[in-house]
Amino acid sequence: MNYLRVADLGADGLKNALDLSIRAKSNPDEFGSALTGQEVGLFYMKPSTRTRVSTEVAVSQLGGRPMTLRNEEVGLGKREAPADVARTLDRYLDILALRVFEHEHLDIIGAHAKAPVINLLSDLEHPCQALADVQTMSEARPLAGSVLTFIGDGNNVCHSLMVAAAMLDVEVRVAAPEGYEPLPEYVELASQYSSVTVTPDVNAAVEGSDFVYTDVWASMGQEDEAAARRRLFEGYRVDEELFGRANDTAVFLHCLPAHRGEEVTDGVADHSRSRIFDQAENRMHSFKGVLLHLTQ
Ligand code: CP
Ligand code: NVA
Repeated sequence: MNYLRVADLGADGLKNALDLSIRAKSNPDEFGSALTGQEVGLFYMKPSTRTRVSTEVAVSQLGGRPMTLRNEEVGLGKREAPADVARTLDRYLDILALRVFEHEHLDIIGAHAKAPVINLLSDLEHPCQALADVQTMSEARPLAGSVLTFIGDGNNVCHSLMVAAAMLDVEVRVAAPEGYEPLPEYVELASQYSSVTVTPDVNAAVEGSDFVYTDVWASMGQEDEAAARRRLFEGYRVDEELFGRANDTAVFLHCLPAHRGEEVTDGVADHSRSRIFDQAENRMHSFKGVLLHLTQ
């Protein structure tokens, strides 16, 4: 079984992975030898801080051996075809996790490896982030019936988050500028589980929200568009005034890294109701949840 998209787990699988993540956090010793003897490859085509460190630590703490590979060595799709890379790594590794540009490369690798394959971020999804996000949200309040508003680029992070949150009965709102909404297939998928609204009206979307989430305006690989995007997204900055329109107990979330002063002000990122570093911590616990779910 692979975890390339949140939908790969299904709602029951997501709930099980979340339960395992919560248990891994509250009782780290419970799974201390779950991955003994297992070699886990962690491959990166893009920079990373949280994913790189949290996954290595998670694998080590479960008794497995992490091996981080960078694309400078592998040359995925250039030095060697993704299918051949998958067939080769599959001979050495028990679990393979990859951060790529094109999601299609993950689909090819998933189809050619017998080992479980995990998405560590692609152009379409960030499913490991989404599990950490719902874990963090569940620490703030019961999820069912709560309201989450994602503000900004309807990108990889937004796609995975909206499906995961909807599967857990969270009402999902996305406020995005025209042309930057989440892909229709993700709106449709999330709508199968919960109420989903996509609107350009950021003030209306935030009203009554329990969770306010944003991500960078220009993702990795979109650096050339950064200046144009700064102009287009100007009205979508989460500042104290916008955050103040959410519920009095609303929590602020961001996958990080943040471009402070662009999509979020210091006042919100450092607010007493900001949970951004709990999210970062939960990347480690929830990666254990993913590994345990896929291997048990
Ligand atoms: N949130 C996240 O994936 O961070 P990194 O890019 O630092 O891994
Ligand atoms: N949307 C961002 C998320 C980084 C964790 C990116 O793809 O760069």
